[in-house]
Amino acid sequence: MTEKPTREDRFSFGLWTVGWQAVDPFGAATRPPLDPVETVHRLAELGAWGVTFHDDDLIPFGSEDAERERHIKRFRRALAETGLVVPMATTNLFAHPVFRDGGLTSNDRAVRRFALRKVMRNLDLAAELGATTYVLWGGREGSETDASKNVPDALARYREGIDTLCQYIVNNGYDIRLALEPKPNEPRGDILLPTIGHALAFISQLEYHEMVGVNPEVGHEQMAGLNFVHGIGQALWQGKLFHIDLNGQRGPRFDQDLIFGHGDLLSAFFLVDLLEQGGYQGPRHFDYKPLRTESIEGVWESAAANMRSYLLLRERARAYRADPDVQEALRAARVDELATPTLAPGETAGELRVDRDAWEGFDPNGAAENGYGFVRLAQLALEHVVGAR
Ligand code: GCO
Ligand code: MN
Ligand code: MN
Repeated sequence: MTEKPTREDRFSFGLWTVGWQAVDPFGAATRPPLDPVETVHRLAELGAWGVTFHDDDLIPFGSEDAERERHIKRFRRALAETGLVVPMATTNLFAHPVFRDGGLTSNDRAVRRFALRKVMRNLDLAAELGATTYVLWGGREGSETDASKNVPDALARYREGIDTLCQYIVNNGYDIRLALEPKPNEPRGDILLPTIGHALAFISQLEYHEMVGVNPEVGHEQMAGLNFVHGIGQALWQGKLFHIDLNGQRGPRFDQDLIFGHGDLLSAFFLVDLLEQGGYQGPRHFDYKPLRTESIEGVWESAAANMRSYLLLRERARAYRADPDVQEALRAARVDELATPTLAPGETAGELRVDRDAWEGFDPNGAAENGYGFVRLAQLALEHVVGAR
């Protein structure tokens, strides 16, 4: 059967994932709080490699300095005892009512300055704990009514905020890159940087653009009806896939944060295939919510299920690639031909303009008769996913 997770797989979990007490807009918590120290131990036992956190997951908002130090010390000890690493950290700029109109893009300038200080403080801790990625998910950066927000101004303040944080990282000599996490809506009606594409375009406008990439989440693109595999393909192509949030989602609806593979399974298969083939070296980070129906046993079972889903899909993706029928079908579908440049080496636009083979000698009606054989490939993939091959 499938291998067990190992440290080499680089599986990581947010404290807030297994720690979610299952409060939703219609109901109270169904589970007690989880101690971060216990989480670290349980995740390590299950074969995880890393743990991530928002400042407030580890140190409750408003803690006194001595209290803060105590929380950090206990957490550090748990990391040392288990060997778990902290590859990424992030800031909670969405829970406290002060952030009701956002953090970096609140209309209230004093809130924006407070938000930047909150990020800087946790960046210091992230650097101390060895994190090399710092995620910014702007859950409250947005609006419910277009009357409330001047979007160009909001984006200018967003840019100013990110530039300021990069300057802070550089001046402190931290080995940290920022990863922006897109999401179309929830909790705000409309969130700024709603998709991978918006985030990539925004990053091109930043002063320290080389230090900033994306942390796409499976469900967030799918909430917008978008193809996650295509989004990840573009982020990889632009050298901007700094981190990834793996989970599951069933189409455009509220953010389900299901276990990885429990949403669109074929998309999860092609995602794992792409991550494994496409040179992504970063953490395989799960950002999911254990179902509200579950007790604590179900929580740990769900953590294990995420890793097992990934490993099973990785095994299936390898079997797909190794199958001679698939290799033949890929060739027949000319999937590899797309890697061949359209122009010949050194050929100019002017030379193409007069190339008779490309126009006078080309028979478009004849070429239009060729089928591409993609159905066969898609079916072979499905058969590997369901274990029929
Ligand atoms: C969501 C988001 C969050 C963020 C996390 C990091 O599901 O709406 O993914 O979970 O990733 O809070 O800031
Ligand atoms: Mn989500
Ligand atoms: Mn996320």
